[in-house]
Formats: sequence, structure tokens, C-alpha cells
Amino acid sequence: MDYDIRDIDLATGGRHRIDWANQEMAVLKSIHDEFEASKPLQGIRIGATMHVTTETANLMRALQAGGADIVISASNPLSTQDDVAASLVAHNEIPVFAIKGEDSETYYNHINAVLDHKPHIIMDDGADLCSVLHKERQDQIPQMIGGTEETTTGVIRLRAMAADGALKFPVIAANDAMTKHLFDNRYGTGQSTMDGIIRATNYLIAGRTVVVAGYGWCSRGIAMRASGLGGNVIVTEVDPLKALEAVMDGFRVMPMEKAAPIGDIFVTATGDINVVDKQHFEIMKDGALVANSGHFDVEINIPSLAAMSIDGARRVRPFVDQYALRDGRKINVLGEGRLINLAAAEGHPAAVMDMSFAGQALAATYLIDNRANLENTVYVVPEEVDQRIASLKLQSMGIAIDVLTDQQAAYLNSWEHGS
Ligand code: ADE
Repeated sequence: MDYDIRDIDLATGGRHRIDWANQEMAVLKSIHDEFEASKPLQGIRIGATMHVTTETANLMRALQAGGADIVISASNPLSTQDDVAASLVAHNEIPVFAIKGEDSETYYNHINAVLDHKPHIIMDDGADLCSVLHKERQDQIPQMIGGTEETTTGVIRLRAMAADGALKFPVIAANDAMTKHLFDNRYGTGQSTMDGIIRATNYLIAGRTVVVAGYGWCSRGIAMRASGLGGNVIVTEVDPLKALEAVMDGFRVMPMEKAAPIGDIFVTATGDINVVDKQHFEIMKDGALVANSGHFDVEINIPSLAAMSIDGARRVRPFVDQYALRDGRKINVLGEGRLINLAAAEGHPAAVMDMSFAGQALAATYLIDNRANLENTVYVVPEEVDQRIASLKLQSMGIAIDVLTDQQAAYLNSWEHGS
């Protein structure tokens, strides 16, 4: 079996951590058991480009139990957990192409190794796999059943492809399930981003001014958790509705230009480029921390900061690069501007990835079951799948809910009753 990982001897530790995460993934576990019995993925080759974490390992094990033949590469050069990669190879015979800290060339070689496997279904986190397949490996498109996409940034890219008529197979936006973005994007990103910043710096958040760029699902979670840790949160936005929501949620809202000289910690999660830019670095406080939790490392303009600095980055702690500026100030960039929650911490907790990855697993079977009827576009996760995941999650938490009486159901379906 071909693979490219850091060190196969890390496998035992990885296995323990995968099993630990599995205890928190009851919904995925029930799908795993169902897949094991009914083998809905028998004969299907799945190529995944996702963060190689303990949670993803449990998704891979569920897909394998369903009969799929799988190969995986990393969806970010810094997010791989090398012990998990080793365990998937050693204990599950899944070819893994992922090494934490891999350079860009290796990253794309790894994506191509996944495509060498000739997948019928691709699972993406950021749409790099889908993009390479469409740009460089079109000969493989006829064998494709479809794809799934895990994250907001990937869905935006795929919708742009679909609008251009460039998308050549159906994709399910696993991100667009309620059971994904309400929980994973908000509570997962909120907690894991603060976890990453704290692990990287050991800073106290209480009393600090935390500037959160964006107020989508992910940044809402970051603002909420930064505030919960005692931070004074400022939100920056370009969308008036989201900005208004941030105001009503109790946060100060202002342009980045105004927030830059006030903030102690800056966190971006907008999906856009140069959100923290040269003009902001010019007016930031000495010692400011700048981190990103958006999918790509484009949100902080690190090249401009490097150009402003005396001699580029000095690594002062793992995941902290300090830039000394000519006026004497120092600015600290965390995790090289890559997803701080996966670079310096372990990504979202298993309890939320449970729902996201249940959605991924069911999206794969949905593609197979509906392959005759799907068009080359981006689909949201069907509502019944969302309802099923939410019900299973509640059940796993021991929480029961009410059921409509016949009278209540009939009332909701009637229009005759008024005041
Ligand atoms: N994205 C964010 N957190 C993650 C995790 N723990 N595993 C896989 N993908 C993730």
C-alpha cells in the first residue's frame, strides 16, 4: 500500500486518541453500525481531502465499514495529526497522504495521489480536490458519481463553479446542513479557535480587546466564546444585517481601521482576502496577536507585514511568529495565518464533528441512491437527513422532546382558524 506520512510508529497513540474521540461521536457510531450491516458503499472508491484528525478518522472508519475503498490527503498543510495518519495506515489499511507542516508542492502531490486512486466520490474540505480534478484530471470525470463539501469556503467556490457551468458532477454541501453550521461552525469554531490561541500563547483573554473580523456562523461563535472568557469583543463586518446582529448581540461594531489601534487580539473568519492588511499593521499596538480561523491563509496579509518588518519572522514559540517593525513595535502572527484551531489545537471537538460527519456519511449514500436524478450543481443536505441527525444526537444525549398531537398537527396544516 502506498502512503506518505510522518512516522508509522506513532500509530498506537493515534489509535487511542481516535477511540477517545469516538466516545463523543454517537451519531456517527450508529451510522457506522448501520453501514457495517448493509454495506451501502460496497465497490465505491472514495477520495477525501480533509483535515486528518481523530474525528475524520472515525468518519473514514465508518465509510470503510460501509464497504468503501478509501484514500485521504490533508486539506491544510498544518492541520494533520501525524499519529492519526499513522493509525489509519497501520490499523485500518487506509492510504494516507498527509504530513503536518508539508510544503505546498507536497500538499498538491498528496491531492494527486488521492486522485490516482480513481475515486467515484470525492469528499472535500475547501474544494481543492474538486478544483484539481476539474483543472488537471478531466479524464477522470466520467467515472465520478459526485462529491461532498465540508466547509463554507468550499461551498462558495463550488457554487461559483456551478454558476460558470464548470462543475461536472453533483456536489452535496454537507456544510449547508443545519446540524453542521449551527453547531460545528458556531460552537466548534468558537471553542477551538480560542483553544488554539490560548495553546499557542498561554495568554489571558479576560480584559483583552478581541477584534473578530466577520459575523458569519464561525465568527459568531468566536465572538461568543471570546466574550465568555472575559474579552471585550469588537466585531468588524461588511454586511449590514450581520453587523446589526452583532450590535444587538451586545458587541461593539466598527471598521477594521478603527479597531486596529484598540485591539489586543485579532481573529479573522471571513473567507476573504487581506482583511487585516498593511494599513492596519501600521496602527496596531505593540505586541498585538493576529490569528486566522478562516479556511485559507489569505485573510492576514503576512507578506506585507514581512515587508514592513526589520528581518522577517522570528519564531518565538511554536505557532507564534514575531515581526519586529522599524518603529520598535512587534506584531505576533499565530499559526502562519492558517486555521489556528487546527494548527495550534485539535480542531473542533468530536461532539460537534459527530453531526457534521454523520452528514458527510449520509451525503455519500444520498449521492449513490439518487445518482440517476442529480444534476451537476451544488445541493444542500435534505431536511430529512438533518432531522434524523438531530434526533439521533438528542437521543445520544438522553434528551426526549415533545411530539405533536394529532390535533396540533391538523391545526398547523389548516388555514381556516383565525383570531
Ligand atoms: N474542521 C474543524 N475541526 C475539525 C476536526 N476536528 N476534524 C476535522 N475537520 C475539522
